[in-house]
Amino acid sequence: MARLKTAVLISGRGSNLQALIEACAAPDFPAEIALVISNVIEASGIEHAIKAGIPVRIVPHRDFKTRAEFEAALDKILRAAGIELICLAGFMRVLTGGFVDAWNGKLVNIHPSLLPDFPGLDTHRRALEAHKRFAGCSVHFVRDEVDAGPVIVQAAVPVLPGDDEHKLAARVLTAEHKAYPLALRLVAGGRVRLSGNQIEIDGKPGPIRLNPVA
Ligand code: GRF
Repeated sequence: MARLKTAVLISGRGSNLQALIEACAAPDFPAEIALVISNVIEASGIEHAIKAGIPVRIVPHRDFKTRAEFEAALDKILRAAGIELICLAGFMRVLTGGFVDAWNGKLVNIHPSLLPDFPGLDTHRRALEAHKRFAGCSVHFVRDEVDAGPVIVQAAVPVLPGDDEHKLAARVLTAEHKAYPLALRLVAGGRVRLSGNQIEIDGKPGPIRLNPVA
C-alpha cells in the first residue's frame, strides 16, 4: 500500500507528533511520517522523531530575515523530501498566504478549542471564563486566517467542576491524541473531499465529531 508522505512541523513538546507516530505504526495506516521539522532547536518533541527513526530538520525561524524567506526554506525542504501532506502539531509560527495557498488542501493543523470558538491563544482559560460546558479540539485545513479553515475532526470533552486551565488542557490533550490520528487517517485515505470551505467525509458533510471523549 502506498502511504501518503507526511511531514509534521513542531515547536515544542510533540505529544501530538508522538500520537501520529504511533498511529502510523499500524500496518493499514494510509500515511507515513517521512519528515519532522522543528523551528526550535530545543523542542523536546524532536526526541520522539529520533526514537522512531524519522528524519528531522531544524529550521530556526530566527535565521531568516523575513517570514517569506523562512517559508521558502521550509517549502524547499518539504518538496525535496517529496512531502504530500503537512501536519502542524504545536508549530508556533503563523504561516502566511503564499505558503498556505501553495499547500492548500495539503496543510492541516490541530487547535485546542472547538472552532470557531476561541481561535488564537489561551483557549482553555477563555473556555473556562466563558463558562462553556464543553471544550475540545479541532483538526482543520489551514487557511490564510489564523485557526480558521474547514474542520475535519472535532473532539469534545466536558468542562468539570473544579477545572483550572491545567486540568482542562490535559483533558483536551487526550482528545487531541485521538482526533489527530483519525483526521490523518481520513485525509491520507482519500476520504475527505474539500471544495472551497465545504468538506465531505465519506460522501457526507463533515466534520466528524467525537463527542465527548473522557
Ligand atoms: C496542542 O495543544 C495543540 O493543539 C496546539 O499546541 C499544543 C501542542 O502540543 N496547537 P504538543 O507539542 O503536540 O504536545
